Amino acid sequence: MKLQNDLFLRAITGEVVERPPVWLMRQAGRTLPNYRKIRASVPDFKTLVESPELIVEATVEPVEVLGVDAAIIFSDILVIPEAMGLPYELLEKRGPRFPRTIKTQADVRGLRTGVDAAAQLAHTYESVRLTKQRLQGRVPLIGFAGAPWTIMAYMVEGSGSKTFASAKEMLFKSPELAHQLLDKITQATIAYLKEKIIAGVDVIQLFDSWAGILSPHQYHQFAMPYLKEICDHIQEVPVTVFSKGAWFALKEIGALNCQAIGLDWNTTPQFARAQLGNEKVLQGNLDPCQLFDTLDNIEKATLSMLKEFGTKHIANLGHGVYPETPVEAIHCFVDTVKRFRY
Ligand code: CP3
Repeated sequence: MKLQNDLFLRAITGEVVERPPVWLMRQAGRTLPNYRKIRASVPDFKTLVESPELIVEATVEPVEVLGVDAAIIFSDILVIPEAMGLPYELLEKRGPRFPRTIKTQADVRGLRTGVDAAAQLAHTYESVRLTKQRLQGRVPLIGFAGAPWTIMAYMVEGSGSKTFASAKEMLFKSPELAHQLLDKITQATIAYLKEKIIAGVDVIQLFDSWAGILSPHQYHQFAMPYLKEICDHIQEVPVTVFSKGAWFALKEIGALNCQAIGLDWNTTPQFARAQLGNEKVLQGNLDPCQLFDTLDNIEKATLSMLKEFGTKHIANLGHGVYPETPVEAIHCFVDTVKRFRY
């Protein structure tokens, strides 16, 4: 079906457009009123992630309420460990937890990978198909996955962490084991993304949320080769790589076979352009905390961000929108971008 609003797709493929498209990372869920209702109607988060009809509602709500230029399918990056055989739980107010973690070669050997892992996630592909029908071509649909290092960090650590010290310990002490695990995650992720593309997603975003806790050397060894492998295998649709905190690796990231690069607020557009040149489209990067500011200041900060980036830009925050963000602040951000013209 032809898209009515193809601004996002035109921008991500490098076309010069009339204004930057806008969407927000983590726009599906977290802040909007109907999401809260949907979330309260199920016993736990995982039930929601496995309920295609509810996923359609959570995915389409930001398009209808906020008027963003793209939808992102409601799911989570942690469905991949679960599909590989390592189930997660989501504890209220405390975040994700894995009852079992990866410690040994036998643990890695026991994991499913490739199409066997991807076959576990049929409910996600069904959600994509239903969401595409519901969207009726209003905006493109983004599919996503965690980058292998970020997924490994959760599988070894067993929960969120400020340092991910256990996961990093594996990189130092058992690099071979880490590579075996990263390779299995990569093969599962490629098979999963291929299925999502067949089901109808128009763009893929890779979230490397914990890239910034690696040294440049570790990023080069343990994150980059697997990002490269995924990008090289996903050529059917445009790909965005968001490696949070990896400003030190932008030159390398710029060599990936992807169309867009997500930036957090620690990086200026000028710095990113100096590292990357002009070919890639940049996405980002307003500090999500700016949305706690006055509406007047949000408008000013958004406009100054848009001017600094110039063309080849997709407007977004520098990380996911925080759950406590006032909805009026999100409207202000989105509307400011939509009024802007180059
Ligand atoms: O962007 C979107 O709106 C699509 C949905 C989406 C979710 N998680 C839904 C979710 C996406 C893209 C993610 C990605 C994700 N999940 C990342 C990468 C992006 C980032 O923020 O760095 C990470 C690290 C996770 C892991 C995860 N899932 C955590 C740390 C948590 C708990 C805290 C929280 O709210 O993020 C989750 C649960 C989760 N995933 C929720 C939502 C809406 C909240 C659960 C609830 O409503 O009870």
